[in-house]
Amino acid sequence: MKEPKIITIDGPAGAGKSTVAKEIAKRFGYVHLDSGALYRAIGYFCKLKGVNLTKKEEVLGAIKNINVELLPNGRVLLNGKDVTKEIRTPEGGVLASQVAQFPEVREFVVKLLREMAVGKKIVIDGRDAGTYIFPEADLKIYLTAFPEERARRRYKELKEKGFNVTFEEVLKEVIERDKKDESREFAPLKVPEGAVIVDTTGKSLEEVLKTISNLINN
Ligand code: CDP
Ligand code: CDP
Repeated sequence: MKEPKIITIDGPAGAGKSTVAKEIAKRFGYVHLDSGALYRAIGYFCKLKGVNLTKKEEVLGAIKNINVELLPNGRVLLNGKDVTKEIRTPEGGVLASQVAQFPEVREFVVKLLREMAVGKKIVIDGRDAGTYIFPEADLKIYLTAFPEERARRRYKELKEKGFNVTFEEVLKEVIERDKKDESREFAPLKVPEGAVIVDTTGKSLEEVLKTISNLINN
């Protein structure tokens, strides 16, 4: 295959999408677009503004005043303020999946991402990157693993960051969020047509990177 210009990585929570996309970007010189970070920033902004997340009109009103930037070093700016740490909490994931239900919010995010990709070689991770944002992508990957393993990874990460959570809580949150992402009407999480499914259960990050590097090089 000639070198892909657009690589999409979709899959459920904790599959390793962001970590893999970031590393692929570094090794192969791509720009990494973390689409989940945009939903997280929007959810976080709505929470700060006291917006009722079940009321679509309120959410749409709030995002009129929002500016989110993904910096090349992976930092996320919300209206000029660095919120990278604040959005990567268990609550941040729940808020993100709530605002992500609204088609208008999704259109807003998709437009931003398509603009960010113009003229660049990109690797984008998310839920609808290969199905909806870039259906024309040259290489589509669906990264997955058993829920218990994904929850174990997330739990380890959260513990290292000092969060007071139990494994059971993390597993429940991961399963509920997956269900919500898979069952929404507009651009749900599913395996994109033509995607290569990579099951990362029991595999190290390096093994997964090797599999994906082979797909890029062949
Ligand atoms: O973006 P996504 O929710 O899919 O996953 P992530 O935020 O990249 O988190 C995955 C976590 O699992 C990170 O702490 C990785 O170091 C770890 N991990 C992995 O990504 N891939 C493996 N094969 C094994 C562990
Ligand atoms: O790292 P993790 O996979 O747990 O979450 P994330 O990629 O940061 O995404 C957080 C939430 O944003 C997901 O559970 C989805 O509800 C939503 N999202 C989405 O709907 N579409 C995307 N392309 C990316 C994220």
